[in-house]
Amino acid sequence: MYDVDPDTGFFPSQPLRPLSGEFSLWEKELVEARSVLKLGIDRGQEAFAKCALGEQWRQRLRSWPVLDVTELGDGIRALRRAHYVLTCLLHFYVHSLPPSQRQGQTIIPKPLAVPLVAVSQKLKLPPVLTFADIVLWNWEFVDPEQPLSLKNMRYVNVFSGTDTERNFYLLSAAAELKGVEMLKIIERVVNIPCPTTQSAIAAIKRDFEELVRVIDDLTTIIGDSSQTVHPNTFYWAARPWWNGSNGAAPWVFEGVPPSSFDLGGASAGQSSVMHALDAFLDVDHGLKQGRQPAPSAENRRADTGFMEKMRRYMPEEHRDYLAQVQKRHVRDLVQRTPALREHYNMTVAALKKFRDIHIRVGTLFIISQAKSTPPANMGTLDISPEEGESRSKGTGGNPVSTLLKAGRDATQRTLLKDE
Ligand code: HEM
Repeated sequence: MYDVDPDTGFFPSQPLRPLSGEFSLWEKELVEARSVLKLGIDRGQEAFAKCALGEQWRQRLRSWPVLDVTELGDGIRALRRAHYVLTCLLHFYVHSLPPSQRQGQTIIPKPLAVPLVAVSQKLKLPPVLTFADIVLWNWEFVDPEQPLSLKNMRYVNVFSGTDTERNFYLLSAAAELKGVEMLKIIERVVNIPCPTTQSAIAAIKRDFEELVRVIDDLTTIIGDSSQTVHPNTFYWAARPWWNGSNGAAPWVFEGVPPSSFDLGGASAGQSSVMHALDAFLDVDHGLKQGRQPAPSAENRRADTGFMEKMRRYMPEEHRDYLAQVQKRHVRDLVQRTPALREHYNMTVAALKKFRDIHIRVGTLFIISQAKSTPPANMGTLDISPEEGESRSKGTGGNPVSTLLKAGRDATQRTLLKDE
């Protein structure tokens, strides 16, 4: 019902199979895109050498037939595969365009726009690359006979072709797989009968202790990120591919009635694992509960609707899962059961520590890199000052540090105080 697998969590238990029949055109062109397309802003030698092939690829895309997605049927796996393939094609198309062809508006050609919007509407997802596309649906088994694990998965679509991008996906996958343990704990706590009996309280305390260990593991995963993900390559060569439509040259979907789509682009902020923790502990990112200490002026400047917005980029079933966890009101239960307070607070403190480390990572990978020189093999990038400015912001245009600190402070405010 919520599409949460007991062994693989928010990952599907099997990789999504490539589309067949007439839709194999999209699959074939996606493979081709990986070998001929570079970022449009890239002025390096390799990009220059591939320039003509890239232009041919984009011209071909404009002349594809407009395929009717009703032929895909209503099976969720085929529709998700179509979303994954089409959004990868979309981001390849848009971000490989030379900046001179992105003045004013960015037109998404009809053969891409029409099926993508139709598939997205069926899935209730935005027509843009999401965390689910790049992390949950973008892998294949190394050995199909063995179960899913970090060692037994291979990421397939890597826009920049860099190890940094591949390792970022693996890092996110490591967090998702940790999530499997976490979801089991959450399920146990929210489903415990008569939670205020002595034996239930003892069981819940053990579960909170277990959860602290899982969150600490997540903190280690993210804290060690610079061992495999290179900040400079991440910022200049990988991250631009995930960007959605920004103010400078908004995307226009040809052949589709005008609509205000969510077009923010992919972010680990869309990982349902982290949202499940927030929902379980009842972190108030939206500042709706009047908790203490009162939010700082900087907290108030942050986009307090960011986390809610990020949910719109998640598969519908995962969104529903989070909503039902939230409705269990575990924080209220703890408030009524003082014996649980210390353990609950230990868990919140662990999540706050995760966010402290995450701020450090965000500073190293985004804020510091915005002032850095791009990798030498990309030449002198072709970016306007306006675009340069927006690249140092988070998904949705918020200054990264303001946003991440607001999340950290909202977590701190979740701690239950002595009455
Ligand atoms: C190199 C590693 C990472 C970097 C540089 C990074 C950077 C960022 C940035 C800049 C944001 C602000 C929103 C945006 O721009 O999308 C963000 C948000 C977020 N990221 Fe990460 N991130 C990394 C890894 C991860 C991982 C592995 C996870 C999941 C476990 C994660 C979970 C989140 C969450 C949940 C948010 C929403 C804000 C919050 O909860 O405080 N990030 N991240």
